[in-house]
Amino acid sequence: MSIRATTPSRYNELYRPQFHFSPATNWINDPNGLVYYKGEYHLFFQCHPHTTLWGPMHWGHAVSPDLIHWMPLPIALHPDPIGEIWSGSAVVDADNSSGLVPGGGLVAIFSYHDQSQGIAYSTDNGRHWAMFSGNPVLPAGGKHFRDPKVFWHPETGRWIMILAAEDRAKIYSSPNLTSWTFASEFGVEEGVRNSLWECPDLFPLELDGETQWVMIASVMGGGLHGGRGITYCVGHFDGQRFTTETRQNLWLDYGPDNYAGVTWNETPDHSRVYIGWMNNWNYANLTPTTGWRGAMTIPRVLGLRRFADGIRLIQTPVPQVEQLRDVHHSWRNQSIVPGSGLLAGLSGKTLDIVAEFQLSRASVFGFKVRKRADGSQFTALGYDVKEGVLFVDRRRSGEANFHPLFSGIHKAALAPENGRITLRILVDWSSVEVFGNHGAVAITDLIFPDQAANQLEVFSSGGDVKLLSLDIYSMKSTWA
Ligand code: FRU
Repeated sequence: MSIRATTPSRYNELYRPQFHFSPATNWINDPNGLVYYKGEYHLFFQCHPHTTLWGPMHWGHAVSPDLIHWMPLPIALHPDPIGEIWSGSAVVDADNSSGLVPGGGLVAIFSYHDQSQGIAYSTDNGRHWAMFSGNPVLPAGGKHFRDPKVFWHPETGRWIMILAAEDRAKIYSSPNLTSWTFASEFGVEEGVRNSLWECPDLFPLELDGETQWVMIASVMGGGLHGGRGITYCVGHFDGQRFTTETRQNLWLDYGPDNYAGVTWNETPDHSRVYIGWMNNWNYANLTPTTGWRGAMTIPRVLGLRRFADGIRLIQTPVPQVEQLRDVHHSWRNQSIVPGSGLLAGLSGKTLDIVAEFQLSRASVFGFKVRKRADGSQFTALGYDVKEGVLFVDRRRSGEANFHPLFSGIHKAALAPENGRITLRILVDWSSVEVFGNHGAVAITDLIFPDQAANQLEVFSSGGDVKLLSLDIYSMKSTWA
């Protein structure tokens, strides 16, 4: 199945993602208004429709039947007399609690750039939107007071809003989406200290038959690359207050290029699906694309797993991505020694790689992707046994001189399970995403390789590693 874009772009420019969402033209940042409604996943996003730089914010819009094939739609929300439209969320107001959508419809809740919160509504599946005449519904509560995520909380029969307020999150509740009452705040008292919070989300996940609540937030500080990342805590939410035993920054992704991510409301199978802006404010306005700038991560299903040191968030690409798998190569039980030529002759610029390794004498092993034939350019991804880390090394990945913080190696601590490491790697024209041990950790990196960098390699150094299984699929473009 394919949906052709109704725009001039042919989605084949240098660096254009082939199976990740990106705008036909111009600038995008955060995903907004993620909601499933009447057979469609809605993806709104921060966009500046006039240039490839951040500017006065609008909500762009696309819909998908499967989270993979996206159909671009016209801009949904334009700046109004109150101001520009910054990040926020959308809900299905099925019972017209707001009084704005007789018969049921969508309500979007967003920040104006003055940090007050407004709402807009639609009764035609998000195709046309009207601003609420009583905006703002919540006045500015400080210099940084934004990015409301709203969801329905059936136990209390209330809408819940979590939003970022300086160095913490605040929670409000409402019976009708138009009048909001302060409930609690979270962060500093709990020891989760970061200088600035943005784009929080709060949602339940089941683990061993119990409901746990997860709070995620995009934060500055905490020591991750360039000072930005998505932190999370696992705890409980009673409709008023979120509590947690987590007393440290846990990271949703250890790469530099996954920020401002949030989850879909109302998915039909109740799975919790996340998508992030695949970029980093340090160099977002400088990435070397032409005509468009900014893309989203692959949508990921979130779950929880119990590890020795506590309950942790796990994530895997939505299974629908597998429908793009095309030519398949597979190997079983290979010994990979330094200089291995196992993948010689294979090429591909869009790949889904699934591998399981058994540790042996190798000190480092993994893959080189988007490699030039002469070896001068590649992105290495793999496992460093001595350090006990999954890594992505983009120091020789291609264009990198647009910002000093771009080049580098990104690592995530990961323990082998039964002496094994599994890798799932998605490679696109300007990104790599790697998931270690079935999504126990993730690393997301942008890369800007030459068109000719299309070779791949499996490598080991310091000795052999056993490759128990390897499946490599070329991926079809969603825009073809
Ligand atoms: C996060 C963010 C949000 C804000 C939006 C503005 O990337 O800074 O906090 O609402 O971008 O575009």
